[in-house]
Amino acid sequence: MMDYMGRRQADMTDIDRMPRGGFDASCLDRLLQTNRLEYLDRDDVDDHVKRQVVSALDWTGRVFGNHQRFAHTALELVAAVPDPKILELGAGHGAVSRLILDDHPTAEVTVTDLNPESVARIAAGDLGTRPRATVRQMDATAIDAPDASFDLVLFALSFHHLSPGQAARVFAEGTRVGRQLLIIDLPRPPAPLHVLRLATMLPWAPVLPFVHDGVISSLRCYSPSALRALARHADPSIDVKLRGGLTGPQIVVARRTHPE
Ligand SMILES: C[S@@+](CC[C@H](N)C(=O)[O-])C[C@H]1O[C@@H](n2cnc3c(N)ncnc32)[C@H](O)[C@@H]1O
Repeated sequence: MMDYMGRRQADMTDIDRMPRGGFDASCLDRLLQTNRLEYLDRDDVDDHVKRQVVSALDWTGRVFGNHQRFAHTALELVAAVPDPKILELGAGHGAVSRLILDDHPTAEVTVTDLNPESVARIAAGDLGTRPRATVRQMDATAIDAPDASFDLVLFALSFHHLSPGQAARVFAEGTRVGRQLLIIDLPRPPAPLHVLRLATMLPWAPVLPFVHDGVISSLRCYSPSALRALARHADPSIDVKLRGGLTGPQIVVARRTHPE
């Protein structure tokens, strides 16, 4: 069956075939994507390379103020909750969770990542002993927690690591265990600007692991239309609000009504 633009209807439901720019992506945008994995996601890459990438992310987050901005955005969403329980997925270095604890006197944070080495490093630092922090390994696509056990689930700069099928599961799982799901990720610029962004990064990609992963991140990040399609695929009852994405990161707040 064809829709009004001549696309096969089956393609519209086959989420893993959705371009990163969404089902309505332009021809050029469809070329600006890759299935290649970042160093962070590869099993054949030495841990010290992954550590280098995570340290560079931590450094840029501190220097350019992203960690603070992300912590602030998270806390704004739970401003009406007296003692909020927050789950951070894909925490990497744990800096955002640390700032949430510093900035809120009673918030409790569960700091998690898929990578066991990152989890061990976070647990060996101050977050491992702070009374309001719990450090655990966790997969964002299969969250090991009961329904509605968190006021907020945060997934920062990590969503683009996932295939569309996995990303849709994060919408389902994040809104199952959390009253609100906050996804913060790189913006996907219009295709001509995207080409320019890639051109400035590409020369450094072979020598700097952080830039290598940055180029792949750029090619894998989702457009607003793709983000809406992923949420719809996960559960049509998920309400999605999008903001940002012009000069800074894209911010997605997703919610659904939990049975009481
Ligand atoms: C680019 S880092 C982001 C680190 C940190 N959130 C930040 O804001 O800088 C992406 C992180 O996502 C994690 N990750 C990838 N797939 C994941 C999954 N399925 N579940 C949880 N974390 C995942 C990686 O291990 C990595 O630490």
